[in-house]
Amino acid sequence: MYSKEFQESLKAVEAAREANIAYEPARMTAQEKEDLLAAYHPDYKKSEFATLQIGPNKGESVPHELCEMLQAHSRIQAKDVDLDNVKYDVDVLIIGGGGAGASAAIEADNAGAKTMIVTKLRIGDANTMMAEGGIQAADKPNDSPAIHFVDAFGGGHYAAKRELLAKLVCDAPEAIHWLNDLGVEFDKAPDGTMITTHGGGTSRKRMHAAKDYSGAEIMRTLRDEVLNRGIPVVDFTAAIELILDENGKAAGAVLMNMETKELMVARAKTVIIATGGAGRMHYQGFPTSNHYGATADGLVLGYRVGAKLLYAETLQYHPTGAAFPQQIFGALVTEKVRSLGAKLVNRDGKVFMHPLETRDVAAASIIRECSDHAEGVDTGSGLAVWLDTPMIEKIGGEGTIEKRIPAMMRMFASYGIDIRKEPILVYPTLHYQNGGLDINVNGMTTNVENLFVAGEAVGGIHGKNRLMGNSLLDIIVFGRSAGQNAAAAAKDTKVGKLTLDHIARFDAEREAAGISTDAVSPKLLPDYRYQK
Ligand code: FUM
Repeated sequence: MYSKEFQESLKAVEAAREANIAYEPARMTAQEKEDLLAAYHPDYKKSEFATLQIGPNKGESVPHELCEMLQAHSRIQAKDVDLDNVKYDVDVLIIGGGGAGASAAIEADNAGAKTMIVTKLRIGDANTMMAEGGIQAADKPNDSPAIHFVDAFGGGHYAAKRELLAKLVCDAPEAIHWLNDLGVEFDKAPDGTMITTHGGGTSRKRMHAAKDYSGAEIMRTLRDEVLNRGIPVVDFTAAIELILDENGKAAGAVLMNMETKELMVARAKTVIIATGGAGRMHYQGFPTSNHYGATADGLVLGYRVGAKLLYAETLQYHPTGAAFPQQIFGALVTEKVRSLGAKLVNRDGKVFMHPLETRDVAAASIIRECSDHAEGVDTGSGLAVWLDTPMIEKIGGEGTIEKRIPAMMRMFASYGIDIRKEPILVYPTLHYQNGGLDINVNGMTTNVENLFVAGEAVGGIHGKNRLMGNSLLDIIVFGRSAGQNAAAAAKDTKVGKLTLDHIARFDAEREAAGISTDAVSPKLLPDYRYQK
C-alpha cells in the first residue's frame, strides 16, 4: 500500500526492528518531562488560549474556541419558552446517552426514580462507543487501589481532586463485576480470569479489555440494559438551556428537537449532565478521535447557570492518531498497540521515547520529533512517526494482532495496509477533555444544587492528564453514583417555580464586560461546511 516515497524509511524501520525490540529506552526524568511539555505540548501554547471575562471562572484561561462558546448567547430568550407547558416531568433528567448517562439511568431506575434520558443523537452515539483499549481496575493479587491511585495521581500531575480519584480507584473492581454481570464480554483466560495489560503510566497490568472495542462492548451492554428496562430515551433532542427553580436549584432543561427545532420543557427534581467531551471543537486545528457530538455542550449549559469549571484549560492529545491514509486522519490507534509491544520510531527507524510514557509526554515527544527535529515521515499532509506494529507478532507470536486488536487490523486493512507486516503512521489527535465541571464526591456540582455531572464533562477526577482506561472507568463509577445520588436527592426535593432568569443575568454580565459576539451556544454539532 505504501507508495515509493515511503520505501526508504520503511526499509530503515525494518532493518532496525530486531534491535529495537530488544532495546529498552530510558524513562525521562521529571525535569525532562516538564521541559518537553512546556516546549511542545499544545496545552502550553499560550497564544491558543483566551481569558474568560464573565462567569464563575472569570479571569481563567481556556482554549479560545471554548471561551467563545462559554461567553456566547443562549439559543433562546426566556420569552421564547412557556415554562408552565411542561412536556416531561421526571425525578431524574439525564442529558446525554453515552456510557455515563446510561449507567446513571440504570442506577436511578434501580432506586425507583422516574428517570429519562435525553440525547441530541441516539443512545450510544457517544465517545464511550469509540473507546478501544480498555478499562482499569486494580483487582489482581499484585495490585491495589492504592497503587492505582499513585499511578493516576502522578500521571495527572498531582492535580486530581483526591477524594474523586480515591473513589475512582476504590470502586473500580466493583465496576468491573457490575459490567461482567450485565454481560460485557471481557477478554478472559481459559480458567475464566480476566486478561489484563499495561497502559501508559501504569505500574501494574490492570487494563481489562474486550479486544480493541472495549467501549463498543460496554456501550452495547449498557444500552441494552436501559432499553430492556423501558427507561424512556428521547433521542434527536438536545438540551439547549438548563432551567433553575426560584430557589436556584437545577430543575430541568429546555429541549430542542434537532430536526423541527420545536422547544419543549422538561421539569426534573434533579438533573445529570452526561454530555461527554469536546474533540469536535478541534482545538488548535487538531483532528479528533471523538464522536460527532463531542462539542462541550455540558460545560456551556452548566457554566451559564453558574457551575464552576475545573482544569478546562487541559486537553488530552492522544499520541497515536492515524496520520495516514487521509481517510482515517485523526482516528484512534489504541494505546493497546503499544501495550502489546509496538514501539514508536522516527523516519530513520530510531526509537525516540519509552513506549509507555504518559500520554501528554508521548504526544509532546512525537510533536518534537516532527517539528524542529524534523525526523518525521512526510505523509503528504504533514509529518508523522511510525508505530512499528509488526513487533507485536514477533513478541507475542503469530496471530496476536488478530486476536487482541482485530479492529485496528481491519481499519488499516480497508486501506491495503497489513499491520502484521507493515508499520503505521501516527500523529497526536485531540482525544479527551481532562477538565470540566467541578463536582463533589457525590457527583453534584460544587455550586449549583441538584445539578449532577458524570463522565467526560467532569473536571478534577484525573487532574491535568488522564491515564488510558481511567475514562471508561470513570463513566461507570461516577455515572452509577450520580444516578444513585440524584435519585436520593430527588426524594427530598420539591421543585419551586421554574425560571430562565439566568439567561438575562448572563446577557447583562456579557454586556457589562463589553464583549461583542454573535456566537450562540451550545454548539451541538460541528460545522464542516466549506467556508471561504
Ligand atoms: O488508546 C486507547 O485505547 C484509549 C483509551 C482511553 O482513552 O482510555
